[in-house]
Amino acid sequence: MSHNKTIPKVKGDFLLGNLRQIATNPFKALRGWHQSNGDLVSFRLATRKFYLVSHPKLIEQALIKQSDIFNKIYNPKKPTGLSLVLGEGLVTSKGDIWQRQRRLMQPVFQRSNITTLLPQIVIAGNNMLSRWQLLGEGAQVNLSKEMTQLTLEVITQTMFSTSVLDKVEQISPALDTLLKYATKTIINPFTLPLLIPTSANQKFKRALEVIDNVIYEIIEQRRTTSSVHNDLLEMFLQARDEKTGEKMTDKQIRDEVITIFSAGHETTSNLLSWTLYLLARHPEVLAKLHQELECVLQGKKPNAEYLQQLHYTKAILNESMRFRPPVGLMLRKINKDTEIDGYLLKEGRFVIFSIYNIHHHPDFWQQPEQFDPDRFLTPENRRFSFMPFGTGERVCIGNHFALIESQLLLAMIVQNYDLQLLHNDEIEIEMAVSLRPKGGVPVRLKRR
Ligand code: HEM
Repeated sequence: MSHNKTIPKVKGDFLLGNLRQIATNPFKALRGWHQSNGDLVSFRLATRKFYLVSHPKLIEQALIKQSDIFNKIYNPKKPTGLSLVLGEGLVTSKGDIWQRQRRLMQPVFQRSNITTLLPQIVIAGNNMLSRWQLLGEGAQVNLSKEMTQLTLEVITQTMFSTSVLDKVEQISPALDTLLKYATKTIINPFTLPLLIPTSANQKFKRALEVIDNVIYEIIEQRRTTSSVHNDLLEMFLQARDEKTGEKMTDKQIRDEVITIFSAGHETTSNLLSWTLYLLARHPEVLAKLHQELECVLQGKKPNAEYLQQLHYTKAILNESMRFRPPVGLMLRKINKDTEIDGYLLKEGRFVIFSIYNIHHHPDFWQQPEQFDPDRFLTPENRRFSFMPFGTGERVCIGNHFALIESQLLLAMIVQNYDLQLLHNDEIEIEMAVSLRPKGGVPVRLKRR
């Protein structure tokens, strides 16, 4: 094995390494380092060392060919970051536990099964449209806030068959507290352990209690009633491991419910916010979208069959996910020294696989900084140059859910409303784990 190529290092501080650059603007830092240093670079956040990977070939070699070496970062025995919140759900578990849970959950998220949830998604969409109508003609709203509320309602409708808007009031701020805390523990290696009662730690624990109480109460109610529901919770309760015939315990269901809640709403909310923003800036694309919707739907509400025929709508969503990927990166830790493409990568280091950088790589995309849905109208092999949902065994389990949901809601929104941007300036990207429009997307609502 030859591994003699040198990995360029990003210049930084003697003590903190590149922590300051990442803390100031993580998106700009990761983007800039790719542009100035190349497809594989190394950097350091205080004591933690990282590689940044921005090339499809390197992704394939790591996440497909050596997925056993590039592991998720969570350790169930010493939970930090997201696993403090999500426990051993699909996003944060690994090894046998992850494999078992993935086997159990995979059938639930098949396209044919997800289409049975379309009526609940339509209810959530209609609730928002009615709310907008009450606001009156010309009302100003922030689309990011609206889309978050909408996708939160979709996930509660599809999970529990109810509009838990009363509970959303409790859940939403608690979830926000939890996820912010979890992100902080990854970026900042000096976060004090939960046992120490700092005010941030106390706030985190209270938020976790709120979420747990709500979820356990709903599971308990469901286990003790006999009425039949068609929703995700019911599917989780009924799911059996095909190998052992076992069902999930209450704790496993709690972990998966909160995992799907967290993974499933902000991502789709970002996708819809960016897409509506881009459509408002590209009237020629919006006009073609209207044409397709009129031609296929002829004024009717979209259903599963129609969705399959909305090719241009799908191309818009794909291009939106290429241009502004709702999840900008994937994070892994290396569990033993290895080699990719002649580079030695060392055990114990973290790896950031940048979906954003790959989606804007000039070797794989013509005019990458242009929003052009037409590029997705012709079939091409984009296996590792386009991966909004990740790749390999840990690919997003909710990809059909996300596409069906966003196609349906996008159609419902543009059929009913024209959205006028309140500002002409281009909206910047804000990076958490997801890529959000910074400051949201303020618009004026005009009924069509
Ligand atoms: C546009 C919307 C979405 C995008 C862009 C997206 C993106 C991703 C990405 C990139 C990953 C891989 C993360 C990694 O490898 O580290 C992932 C995993 C995951 N996503 Fe999504 N996602 C979306 C919507 C959803 C929805 C709607 C759900 C659930 C209803 C969901 C549930 C999950 C779960 C459970 C995982 C972990 C899978 C595993 O490790 O086995 N996602 N998603």
